[in-house]
Amino acid sequence: MSNARLDVLISEEELRAKVAEMAAEIDRDYAGQQVLLIAVLKGSVHFLSDLGRALTLDSEIDFLQTSSYHGGKSSSGVVQIRKDLDINIEGLHVIIVEDIVDTGVTLSHLRELLSTRKPKSLKVVALLSKTGTRTVYPPVEYIGFEIPNEFVVGYGLDYAERYRNLPYIAILREE
Ligand code: IMP
Repeated sequence: MSNARLDVLISEEELRAKVAEMAAEIDRDYAGQQVLLIAVLKGSVHFLSDLGRALTLDSEIDFLQTSSYHGGKSSSGVVQIRKDLDINIEGLHVIIVEDIVDTGVTLSHLRELLSTRKPKSLKVVALLSKTGTRTVYPPVEYIGFEIPNEFVVGYGLDYAERYRNLPYIAILREE
């Protein structure tokens, strides 16, 4: 995309406030328990980092990577595991940390896969959820922001690996 315009959708301050709010809610729900936060690479790294530090719970982190977008703007619908977890999740309270839920295909696949490994509980926290784009409906227990069906970048989200470093979320528009 040679001529791209970025329109800020969620500011740095709004992100910070929302992450603190979500962390407080998760702290309350899991009080006294240990949790494993599983971040889905690479888009969720900044969210995991901020959320993980805002939680006061005893928490561990692990990572997995899927691929379905192949550097473009629309999903291929095929979800592959590129990097699997290091930790055995059996008997653990697991929280999947997602950057954004669009069609729901990735998350639905992940929930299914991780459930087979017998965690004590399994929930999902997603920073963003697109409205009206689901083709499947996996449960998402914690949602930061409902956003319109636009392609967004920043705070970990990319377009062909660019823009992940932006401290805010912006809509990427072609000029
Ligand atoms: P889903 O399987 O369609 O729900 O897509 C989920 C994945 O697609 C996310 O984890 C992102 O990596 C990617 N994705 C979906 N929408 C966007 C977007 O607007 N910007 C950047 N990546 C996106």
